[in-house]
Amino acid sequence: MADPEARLSAREARLERIPQHVGIIMDGNGRWAQARGLPRTAGHQAGAERLREVLQAAMDFGIPILTVYAFSTENWSRPRQEVQAILQIFHRAIATELRQLQEAGIRLKHLGRTEGLAPELVSKIREAEALTANNQRLHLNIAFNYGGRADIVDAVKRIVAKGLPPEAITEQLIAEHLTTAGQPDPDLIIRTAGEMRLSNFLIWQAAYAEFYSTPTLWPDFGREELYQALLAYQRRERRFGGLRPASS
Ligand code: IPE
Ligand code: IPE
Ligand code: MG
Repeated sequence: MADPEARLSAREARLERIPQHVGIIMDGNGRWAQARGLPRTAGHQAGAERLREVLQAAMDFGIPILTVYAFSTENWSRPRQEVQAILQIFHRAIATELRQLQEAGIRLKHLGRTEGLAPELVSKIREAEALTANNQRLHLNIAFNYGGRADIVDAVKRIVAKGLPPEAITEQLIAEHLTTAGQPDPDLIIRTAGEMRLSNFLIWQAAYAEFYSTPTLWPDFGREELYQALLAYQRRERRFGGLRPASS
């Protein structure tokens, strides 16, 4: 974890309208490595290390909930060796960072399916979730083996298993059966590495999220870029299908 004594600069302190929930699609690890003549796995390692600075910045800016997209249900289609490396980096990161997450007051939650993950990894995730369950400084969701469609399918299965009648099916009921149950929808979704798509990230929850795309590759993303994204967010006008508020 970065220096906990880090202070906000006067400029950063001027941020207003901090989003309650920020999602980040951490993309561009492969391109970052390729640009340096390194194997793609070196990019994934560098990407995992980047998260530390971004977590500290998110806490300093007062963001209560951060969801990071680390591995999608579609990413299994990559070469086996790359997938194995990503799984290993994730496992190692939780194991080595757990104490610091706990000390920093970060609550960790896994979003995604556990099937396909090694039992040791699943128990490490559960251990981390249990240990940090009462932390309040920042709620960190790690979307790993996550897909928005899979999340909706799983929610529907749970609803059907309860034998609920059609009249009981509401947007709220579906939201309550998604893995993000109880959390506000993301206000802002940031995607690094320039792509302009969600790639199956929080597709239900992102219905009215503001989208911010930056060409910066994830291993180069940091505090300043997060600040820029928050600045852009506070200039957006959110209408939720209504009309713009009358100007005073
Ligand atoms: C994001 O970086 C990490 C994962 C999807 C696991 P990529 O590996 O997709 O990097 P690019 O898009 O190939 O540069
Ligand atoms: C999205 O990135 C998934 C994660 C960042 C974990 P991808 O690199 O998998 O997305 P596509 O293939 O470019 O849409
Ligand atoms: Mg990518």
